[in-house]
Amino acid sequence: MTAVGIDAIELWSGKLRLDLAETFAPVKGEDPGKYTKGIGIEYSSLPDVYEDIVTMGANAAKQLMDRKGLTPEDIGRIDVATESAFDNSKPVSTYIAGCLEQVYDGDFHHANKGERKFACLSGTQCLDDAYNWIRAGRNRGRAALVIATDTALYERGDPGEATQGAGAVAMLIDEEPDIVALSTEQGYGSADETDFLKPNQQFPSVDGKRSIQVYLARMREALEDYESVAGDTHPEDFVYFPFHTPYPGMVRKAALLGYRHITRDTEIEDALADDIGMQPREENYETREDYEEAIRAYMDELKGTRQYQEWYEQAIEPTIQVSGQVGNWYTASVHLARLSALRAAASEDVDLAGEKMLVGSYGSGAQAEIHAETVRDGWREGVEGLDVDAQLADRYDLSFEEYELVHDVHNHQKEVEVEEFTQPEGEFVFTGWGRMNERRYEYVE
Ligand code: HMG
Repeated sequence: MTAVGIDAIELWSGKLRLDLAETFAPVKGEDPGKYTKGIGIEYSSLPDVYEDIVTMGANAAKQLMDRKGLTPEDIGRIDVATESAFDNSKPVSTYIAGCLEQVYDGDFHHANKGERKFACLSGTQCLDDAYNWIRAGRNRGRAALVIATDTALYERGDPGEATQGAGAVAMLIDEEPDIVALSTEQGYGSADETDFLKPNQQFPSVDGKRSIQVYLARMREALEDYESVAGDTHPEDFVYFPFHTPYPGMVRKAALLGYRHITRDTEIEDALADDIGMQPREENYETREDYEEAIRAYMDELKGTRQYQEWYEQAIEPTIQVSGQVGNWYTASVHLARLSALRAAASEDVDLAGEKMLVGSYGSGAQAEIHAETVRDGWREGVEGLDVDAQLADRYDLSFEEYELVHDVHNHQKEVEVEEFTQPEGEFVFTGWGRMNERRYEYVE
């Protein structure tokens, strides 16, 4: 069967940054370690006044098309995943296509365009749509463009303010891809949950502590569902485990639970038994509470073992490096985690071709999805040329007062005039509103 998957990836970060330890923590009266160590985010990327989900998505897509030498004729679908849409009818993909048509010969009239929401899971669902469209033979030789773009802002003063971020990831989905091939097997964990939502409002209503529990519960269901079709998973089956990363601290929790699950009934559990005992089995406890208590004690011990720490350093830590520098990008989050791991491998000269990753996507509300990806021969070339380091290093460092202004500029309820902090060059910018209240964009040379 022909492989289908991700042929190219590009990223566009918001051009401003908020330093959580140096700038945010002192104003909040918090220890900087809460952000750098506990939550795990050093900087949040934020959009300059002329940036939004359309400019960031279009800029990532243009970089991708230029690098691959594509024209609109080569693209048969444009799907956008976002939780920050400003239009309840006209999809963001049409705005992005309009931007791209300003700079390329030809147009995207032949391209199917859509929009999805559900955090990074919706980015993955766009990959699925592209995968299925290609597999069904409906693509007429064309590739699909998937763009995950978000401005993840919380109400000022909300605990979520520490996990903000803004940026976009663009991916090209094609046959015989250069970067990864997607597995046919998938697992889901899905339930009607009320932990993070935006019912016709820009900033989320969040029950932060509950959202963590819901994430873990749905992820576990998805893993069990995945194993029901793909067979049991083992730590050695996968080189990396990229997960939805609202902040690295969340992934630390998920990784520990995941490791306990995938080492159960394996030689790793046996090898650990001398030091920390076997994993608790529910049938050996009289009450659920006793069992849960025993699990917590086992996990505390597991966290300190050499085996777990080595696995975490190799298989998880590389996936959260970029997230720690940019914050939560909602729909782009797991796609950043995958990219982060591939970049780490490239910089360490690891040969990944043929290796597998287990990818865990998630969206509040809530649903998790797990599938495997096989790294392809062209992966290194596909990630080595990216300008991620330069983009992150070039961000403007906001003072707290400037951050408040930027937050207000992007608050749909406020109208404030603020000078831009950076100079746009070779990119799409927001220029104002048109006669039907549509947002308008231009390419700046
Ligand atoms: P909080 O209550 O301000 O933080 O909110 P905290 O007091 O729980 O501290 C955070 C961590 O830092 C804790 O670690 C502390 O111990 C540690 P933990 O105990 O959890 O392992 N800490 C320190 N560590 C070292 N040195 C110190 C120190 N002080 C504290 N000095 C919270 C944190 C994440 C709840 C908040 O930021 C929030 O509500 N965020 C938004 C919701 C969220 O991100 N949820 C994650 C799961 S849901 C999801 O991923 C979906 C999402 O992307 C939405 C979507 O798109 O669908 C969010």
